[in-house]
Amino acid sequence: MEPINLYDFESRAESTVPHNVWDYISRGSQDGIALKRNRSMLESILLRPRFLRDVRKRNLSTTILGEPIKFPIMIAPASRQTMVHPDGEIATARAAAASGTIMGLSTSSTKSIEEVAQAASGPLWFQLFHCGKEETTSLVRRAEDSGYKAICLTVDTPIPSDKEMDIRNSWQTPPEAYPGNFLYKITSKTPSNLDSGISEGHHMRPPTIPLTFEQLPWLKSLTRLPIVIKGIRTAEDAALCVKYDIDGIVVSNHGGRQIDCTLSSIETLPEVVTAVDGKAEIYFDSGIRRGSDVLKALALGAKGVFIGRPIFWGLAVNGQAGVEKVLDILYRELDLVMAYCGFTSVDQIDDGILHLPLEMEYSRIPYIEEIRGLADLHAKGLISRNEFDSKRESLLGIEKQ
Ligand SMILES: Cc1cc2nc3c(=O)[nH]c(=O)nc-3n(C[C@H](O)[C@H](O)[C@H](O)COP(=O)(O)O)c2cc1C
Repeated sequence: MEPINLYDFESRAESTVPHNVWDYISRGSQDGIALKRNRSMLESILLRPRFLRDVRKRNLSTTILGEPIKFPIMIAPASRQTMVHPDGEIATARAAAASGTIMGLSTSSTKSIEEVAQAASGPLWFQLFHCGKEETTSLVRRAEDSGYKAICLTVDTPIPSDKEMDIRNSWQTPPEAYPGNFLYKITSKTPSNLDSGISEGHHMRPPTIPLTFEQLPWLKSLTRLPIVIKGIRTAEDAALCVKYDIDGIVVSNHGGRQIDCTLSSIETLPEVVTAVDGKAEIYFDSGIRRGSDVLKALALGAKGVFIGRPIFWGLAVNGQAGVEKVLDILYRELDLVMAYCGFTSVDQIDDGILHLPLEMEYSRIPYIEEIRGLADLHAKGLISRNEFDSKRESLLGIEKQ
């Protein structure tokens, strides 16, 4: 029988790829606490369906940084996709275009920026790991010249985070999955420390150098493209992104792959939404497996979501067609759950349909509640925008940075 949900894809994919590749894709860091919590917290948010509404005609389309897409589900940047299918990112890009959505291409992709741009007829984002001024400048220019629509800087991997199972498996990137953007750099003179990492994003490409907030204006000066920051998890960092005039934020814990023992990604979404207060678009990833998960993220303030591991599952099972099917399943599930919640378009979705678990009902950070209170006062016209902004920024400690 054809897979009918993403878990069917997961179990089929597991039986088709070598166990060490499977471990590399599916595991989380250390004890997998953040990885498991991504799912358990999404599952603990329940829905309050609404009826007696005419929901026969539904429209799931939206815009992301002005780009129209057919539904608010996008493809997260993920490295080395030829590990599970020879066409790798080319197949994924074609599936994204056929499905009407955006694909993020990783700095560590197997297929290069240019190859993917040539194969894709839909919108692409380029995900950037900062690799030093010279290399980053070149990557950003290549992406802009190839027609990518945004630069998505991943910030939640300041140093490599080796997964324990990869150490046990003596994991090495298989030659067919070497990063395509840097292949020309692999020579007999390539220093061995660039060729033997076991962490994602660290194979045979210059190591990631963490950027600082103060360097964001430099990054922005390289390109006319919008800048999206991926991996933000706190109100404080989100407010700083706004201060540095960032266009979008992906609230993400990297699918639980980098640092363990954090909150789940969905738990961090509300505080980021509060801190940003509409000044940048907010997207969400980590743990999306059902259309209802998408609805929950949108209800908490995300403009769209990304999926990571399910792309590998679709690719492993059936290449481009598999990725299209994964996206189609999520599209249909979102469509169904929207109808049951009384929505006919994604911009109607609000948090009134959510029943939050107690631990998400109130923020653990007292000033988040205070900012929400101020936002209410501003909405009622009781304080000015300037007053609201300056109090919000002082509560978030922005001026101290
Ligand atoms: C095998 C694998 C490779 C990844 N590579 C990258 C990467 O190169 N850059 C990046 O920003 N995120 C990377 N990610 C993280 C995804 O972009 C995304 O944040 C995460 O997979 C979302 O969680 P999910 O897998 O539960 O959907 C990777 C994820 C996986 C599973």
